[in-house]
Amino acid sequence: MDFNSLKPKVESIILNKKKTIDERLLKICELLEASINYYNWVGFYFKNGDKEELKLGPYVGAPTDHTIIPFGKGICGQVAVSNQNFVVPDVAAQDNYIACSITVKAEIVIPIFVNGENIGQIDIDSNTPDPFTEADERFLEFVCKKVSEML
Ligand code: SME
Repeated sequence: MDFNSLKPKVESIILNKKKTIDERLLKICELLEASINYYNWVGFYFKNGDKEELKLGPYVGAPTDHTIIPFGKGICGQVAVSNQNFVVPDVAAQDNYIACSITVKAEIVIPIFVNGENIGQIDIDSNTPDPFTEADERFLEFVCKKVSEML
């Protein structure tokens, strides 16, 4: 499945106003996990109100204990403060990393901006070492932009 053929599917999920926002976010997780073989855990984290922490939103993949992540902690918490994409080819090489599953080899986190504010992120874990390219970043930036238009 190439990214260009996924884009209209993402857009049609986003535009389906019969579903709640969380239902649409879950559909996006399901689409991505099912379509891209090295996307093994796909989820959204969002800023938890006024708190300096992330709260887990819809996701697919193994259940995680990390439903709340303080800003600055782990890959996700670092993206909450850096406002930058974070591509991790080898999670074992990261000091500031929160392990969710021993099968995970790599991770990518892309921030979501609403009116210039970093309000959350998409987080993808892979069981394949070093699988992510710039094409993943550009595609996931597209997904995050579409998500931000729905919020
Ligand atoms: N590995 C992440 C934690 C979230 S789990 O991947 C679902 C991190 O280091 O922030």
